[in-house]
Amino acid sequence: MKAEKVTIHTLQKKKAAGDKIAMLTCYDATFARLLDEAGADVLLVGDSLGMVIQGNSTTLPVTLDEVIYHTRAVARGARRAQIVGDMPFMSYQSSVEEAMRSAGRLVKEGGAEAIKLEGGAQHAELVRRLVVTGIPVMGHIGLTPQSFHQLGGFKVQGKDDDGARRLVDDARALEQAGAYAIVLEGIPLEVARDITNALSAPTIGIGAGPHCDGQVLVIYDLLGMNEEFKPRFVRRYENLALRIRTAVDEFVDDVRSGAFPSEEESFTRGQRLERKPATVSAIALAGGCAPAPEVASGAGDAPAAPAGAPASSVDPAFYSSATPKGDPKQ
Ligand code: KIV
Repeated sequence: MKAEKVTIHTLQKKKAAGDKIAMLTCYDATFARLLDEAGADVLLVGDSLGMVIQGNSTTLPVTLDEVIYHTRAVARGARRAQIVGDMPFMSYQSSVEEAMRSAGRLVKEGGAEAIKLEGGAQHAELVRRLVVTGIPVMGHIGLTPQSFHQLGGFKVQGKDDDGARRLVDDARALEQAGAYAIVLEGIPLEVARDITNALSAPTIGIGAGPHCDGQVLVIYDLLGMNEEFKPRFVRRYENLALRIRTAVDEFVDDVRSGAFPSEEESFTRGQRLERKPATVSAIALAGGCAPAPEVASGAGDAPAAPAGAPASSVDPAFYSSATPKGDPKQ
């Protein structure tokens, strides 16, 4: 059964029904497919890509072209989840006109279904213009990383009464301007709860406690890709740093010892090599599965080719492969 596409209305209905929203950052098509299949509601192509993909220490260097590039890849990989493109630093701050052009490019060229921008009441006019134009806007207040230098670093916001009041006012201004959802980053849980209760638009928290209508994490943090980075608000569901190093270490050993590739993982000029049953192609795992022709020998299941490959381009001997090491299906 085809899962229904997540839209701004789905998210608003979720808040009304008390159902939590699961959002994740995503930067490429393979991750988009996996996160979408796992049930994430929203995939945010965040300017956090400047840190986790590009290796910068802040999000400030990220360009609009880079966000568009990654958004296009994510849009190709996902089916159900809503795709949100993040407006990078200085793509919207200098004028409403430039901001409109930037957002338009994210939608037209990147395939974004909504855009996100940092800041509160000062962007109310821009949010209004975007929404009237048909571009849904997700707000983002609290610890706004694009204001890194102004904030004096990555620091929790809204800890005193004035700061908390300003956040509530900003959230209200964004909602009144038409924002369909608001990210609350790095704020005390009491303030996040008050904002969540004051709005009919869903709030999505990161380091903002459990009372928000949804939660977002940077996917690399959730998967434990960087052992040095473990802020209080991140929960690691995996230790991929260790698993990736272990797998690559084995590969390096196998190459050096000559254990990889085996004959089974090689081609011959004439006869087809024996293939184990229930094989899975690593290429198909990365690119999706399409029905493939029968194997001439009839042994095992049919090999899988990348999705979209024309039938004439599929050589069963090329795409059939040995089961990956440690594959539980073995
Ligand atoms: O850029 C990003 O990934 C974000 C999320 C952390 C909300 O803005």
